[in-house]
Order: sequence, then structure tokens, then C-alpha cells
Amino acid sequence: MPVQPEEKRMYMQAIQIIGAGSAEPARVVTNDDLANIMDTSDDWIFPRTGIHSRRFCAEDETAGTLAHRAAEAAIRDAGIKKEDLDLILVASMSSDYAAPTIAATLQKTLGLREIPALDINAACSGFIYGLEVARGLLMASRKRYALVVGSEQLSRLLSMEDRNTAVLFGDGAGACIVELLPEDAGIENGTKPLYEALLGSRGSDVILAPGCYGTTPVDHMLMDGKEVFLFAVKTIPEVLEALLEKSGLALEDLDYVVCHQANARIIRNVVRKLHAREEQFFMNMETYGNTSGASIPMALAEMKQKNLLKHGAKLALIGFGAGLTYGGALLTVR
Ligand code: ACO
Repeated sequence: MPVQPEEKRMYMQAIQIIGAGSAEPARVVTNDDLANIMDTSDDWIFPRTGIHSRRFCAEDETAGTLAHRAAEAAIRDAGIKKEDLDLILVASMSSDYAAPTIAATLQKTLGLREIPALDINAACSGFIYGLEVARGLLMASRKRYALVVGSEQLSRLLSMEDRNTAVLFGDGAGACIVELLPEDAGIENGTKPLYEALLGSRGSDVILAPGCYGTTPVDHMLMDGKEVFLFAVKTIPEVLEALLEKSGLALEDLDYVVCHQANARIIRNVVRKLHAREEQFFMNMETYGNTSGASIPMALAEMKQKNLLKHGAKLALIGFGAGLTYGGALLTVR
């Protein structure tokens, strides 16, 4: 992923995360619970994935209801008024309906003004795509605040008869309030806010989830685990290094790297490749599994709750997943 000279000179108007919240579904499902219904075990799952348990939605929960709870929590955390929001984006590959979108429904259930609302699907990279779409739309409309949510009910896409995928995924939602900073922020005193982003895709069906069309009849999520592993351990360092090069920062300058929480073994492999410190790479898949588009904002909400993010903390967020899609952002948290 070589960085072009003109990209280095390009001025990126920055967004900043000013609040985060999450919603965890009610049902805790441990590896031992799964071992009661399929041929698997904690001894197989945990060493390969770092996952001990995940949450599945209860009967009255969906990606839509989780998105609502996470959004409420993020708005509270940001300390803004609901009326201040200018845009709603929801990243999901498991939304309740194709229409209405979760985003449009949130406009009503949260009691917001009639602002633009859009669902986007870039699978596990969806939240990172959401940040860039939010930045672009806020810039285009000269507005300030966006609600960016990642929400998933992946349990609906799993077959409990397919242990290859059933043990990996979970449900959940995370939400962030994103502020577009003024175009000239920090220019006078040389403290331009940190922001860089990179998005990409490499068409492939190594992860396949059911939809209402397509030539391959698919009734649950399918995955070539080894191919995904190889894609992830190659792509994460490439994205991170390209972002660092664009920004002129070194890995040590970042407070945390928050990767999509697919699998601890993927992240540890990346840490080794980069000769990095494992503590710099936040991980919480142990209790949530892989929640696709929700995993990065859920991680951010947990980090804020645990006071891990001091004012102005510099973060790299890296997503990768079905598509295959990938994306990364360097930004700060207020
Ligand atoms: N429990 C017990 N045994 C299992 C299970 C299970 N849940 N699943 C597979 N096995 C068996 C296999 O059948 C195989 O048996 P065999 O040797 O008799 O044929 C054996 O375990 C080894 O299977 P592998 O697939 O080779 O296992 P591997 O060590 O590669 O680990 C894993 C599989 C964990 C999926 C790994 O490939 C991986 O982490 N891949 C990345 C997956 C990922 O994170 N995907 C998320 C992407 S995000 C998104 O966008 C949706």
C-alpha cells in the first residue's frame, strides 16, 4: 500500500470522537454452552480465537433495539443534546429489515430532527467506512455532529450445525458521536488535529452471508477461516503502516490500536510482525466474540468506561472483513 507523495501533502479535515456507548445483549453464551449443542470445546475455541463467551440477542432484542441503546449511551457520554445531531449512520450486515433501515428507525425512536439517515454495509469494516462517510457528508453539508453506530445480530446468520462459524461470532452494538472539526483548526499554532483514513476492498467470497439474491444458495454464514486469517495478518500491518506514513507519526506515538475484534490470534500475529507491545492493542473478544461492524465502537465504549482514553488520546482504528473490505483511521478522542 504505497503512499503517493500528493496524498502526504493533502490536508484532511479532521473528525474527532467525542462520545461512545454500547449495548450488550442479554444472553451470555459460553464455549461450554456451545459444546452442549455441537461438537466443539473451550479447549478448541479459546486457544485459536481468544473467545470464551459471546452475547446473543434475547427474544425481544434485535440489531435495531441494540443500536438504539448504544446510541442513547453515546449521546449521554458526549454530553450533547439530541437536537444537535446532524446525521445518523448505522453500519450493519444483519439489520432487522432491508427497509426501513436501522438508521431511519433511530431517527424516530431517538426523537431526532428529520436529519439524513443511512445504513451502510461493509461487514466488519463497516464502522470505519461509517466514519469516512460521516466526515464526507458533514463536510458536504457544512454540519457538525454525526451519530455513527455499528450494530449486529449475527446469531441470526449462524447455523448451530456449522461449528466452523457458529463459535466465532456474537451480537452487540456500539455507537460514537463524531464531531467535524473546523477546517482551519490548529493551523495558526501548528497543532493541526490528527486525522488520516484509508479504505479499500478486494472482491472475494471467502466470507459469505445470506441475502435475498445471488447464485449460490446460502442459508447461513460461511467462511474460509484460513484465507481470512492470511488476509487479516497481511492487511492490518499494511493499513497501519500506510496511515502512520501519511501522518508522519510512529507506532509508539499512538495511545492505542483498536483492531476489529475477530480473533486474538490474528492480533497477536500482527503485534509480532510489527515488533509492537501487545498492551497497545486493545482486545475484548474474550467476552463478546466477533461482533463484526459493532466490534470497534464497542471496544471504544469499554475503553472510555475504563478510563483508558485520556483527553486527546491518539488512536488507530483498523477494520477488515467480508467483502473483502478493509479500512483504517487515525484520530483523537476528546
Ligand atoms: N470445534 C472443534 N473443532 C473444529 C471447530 C470447532 N468449532 N471448527 C473446526 N474444527 C476442526 C476442523 O474440522 C478441523 O478438523 P480436521 O483436522 O479433522 O479436519 C480442525 O478443527 C482444524 O480446523 P482448521 O479450520 O484448520 O482450524 P484453524 O486452526 O485454521 O482455526 C479458525 C480455524 C479459528 C477459524 C482460524 O482459521 C481463524 O481464526 N480464521 C480467521 C477467522 C476470522 O477471524 N474471521 C472473521 C472475519 S470477520 C468478518 O467479516 C465476518
